[in-house]
Amino acid sequence: MAATMLGALSVGARKAFAQKRGNLPKGFLWGAATAGHQVEGNNTGSDIWLLERVKPTIFSEPSGSAADSYNRYVEDINIVAELGLNCYRFSAEWARIETEKGQFSQSALDHYSRMVDQCLAKGLAPVLTYSHFSTPRWFAALGGFEEKDSAEMFARYADRLTRTVGDRLALAITFNEPNIARQLAAMPAFGELRKAAGQMFASAAREAGSNHFSSSLFVDPDRTESNMLAAHRAGYQAIKAGPGSFLVGPSLAIADEQGVGDVNQAEEKRRTLYGAWLEAARGSDFVGVQTYTRNLVGPDGDLPIPENAERTQMESEFYPSAVGGTIRYAAAITGKPVYVTENGVATEDDTRRVAYIDGALREVRRCIDDGIDVRGYIHWSLLDNFEWVLGYRPKFGLVSVDRGTFRRTPKPSALHLGRYARSNRI
Ligand code: FCB
Repeated sequence: MAATMLGALSVGARKAFAQKRGNLPKGFLWGAATAGHQVEGNNTGSDIWLLERVKPTIFSEPSGSAADSYNRYVEDINIVAELGLNCYRFSAEWARIETEKGQFSQSALDHYSRMVDQCLAKGLAPVLTYSHFSTPRWFAALGGFEEKDSAEMFARYADRLTRTVGDRLALAITFNEPNIARQLAAMPAFGELRKAAGQMFASAAREAGSNHFSSSLFVDPDRTESNMLAAHRAGYQAIKAGPGSFLVGPSLAIADEQGVGDVNQAEEKRRTLYGAWLEAARGSDFVGVQTYTRNLVGPDGDLPIPENAERTQMESEFYPSAVGGTIRYAAAITGKPVYVTENGVATEDDTRRVAYIDGALREVRRCIDDGIDVRGYIHWSLLDNFEWVLGYRPKFGLVSVDRGTFRRTPKPSALHLGRYARSNRI
C-alpha cells in the first residue's frame, strides 16, 4: 500500500518522504578511514619515517610496525564490511609506489590494486587518498612542495596510480588536509614547535645528503601553498583523465570557527585557514570536510576552551556538533557536494565515542534535512593507530589493535556506527 502510494510521487517528493521518515539518500557512504603511514608499518621510504628517527625530532616515538596493515589489509577490510559499513577510505603511500624519482614499483601498485579488489569483493566502495601527509623521502630531500616542479611530480604519480586502480575507485581525494600547515601555524604554541621542527628538518637534510628537507607538516605554508594548489589541480586532471569515472576533490582540516561577540576574527580566520582550499574544492567535484572540534574566536583571536568543557585526549573540546557548522560553511562557499571524510574523537572511554558519533550524526541529519547535499560520513579512524607526533597514545579507533600481537578488537562504538549504516537512518 505504502509502496503504491509512493509510486505516484515524483522523485523529489519521494526523496523528501523517505528523508522525513529518517532514511538517508540511497548510496550514502558510511565508512571508516585510515592513512597508510599511520597503519601500514615500516613505511621506510617516506619523509616521516626519517623525521621520526633523526635527532632532534618532535615525534614522541617512531611508527615502527604501526598496525601491520600492509600485511593485514584483508582482515581490516573484512572488519569494515562485517560492521555493516559500505565504504573504506585508505591512502596509497607515494613513497612505496615511486621509490626513487621516476622509478615505480609494480609490486606496490599491485598491492593497492589488491586492496581495491578486496573492498569490491566485500561490497565496499573504495575511497582512495592519493596523498595523506607523507611523501617520499627523495621528494622531501628535493625540497618537497616548496619546489615549483613538485606539481608535475605529484601529477605523474597520480597518473600512474590512476592507471592501475582508477577503473575501480568510488571516490578520490587528491590531498588530505593540505591546509594543515596553516592550521598548525595558527596555534598559539606554534612558535616553539616551529623552532624544534626547524632543527629536525636540518638534521633530516644532513641524513638525506641534501641542503633542504621539506615536509607537508610543520612547514611555512606561505612557501608551499601555491605549489600544493598547483599539484592538486594537476593531480585532479591526471586522475580525471581516467580510467574510471568518479568524483575527485581535496579534503580540508576544518574546525567550526564560532565567532563570539559582535566584533570578532572568525571570518578572517576562516578566510586565512580555509579560503584557498575551499576555492580549490570549488574547482573540483566535491569538498571533503574533516572536523574534530570547534574554536571560539573573539576580537583578538581564539578564546580559551570553556572551563567546564569536557576535553579529548588531544586537549581539544569534546564538541560533536562541530561538524554541522563546517558542513554548512563548506557547502555554502563551494556549492559542491560534501563528504565528511574524517570525524572522530581521541578517547580511552569508548562510551564517549558512541556519544560523539550520535552528536555528529544528528548534525549530519539536520544538514541533509535543510537540503544540503551531504553524501557520506566516514569516521576517523577504523583502527587505533600512529597519531603522527603524538605517537600511539591518542585512541581514535573504532577497533583496538594489540600493540604486541596486532590482534584487532572492534569496540562497542564500531558496532554502534555499523547499526546506523545498516539502517541508513539517523
Ligand atoms: C587529521 C588527519 C588524520 C588524523 C586525524 C586525527 O588531521 O588527517 O591523519 O591524524 O587528524
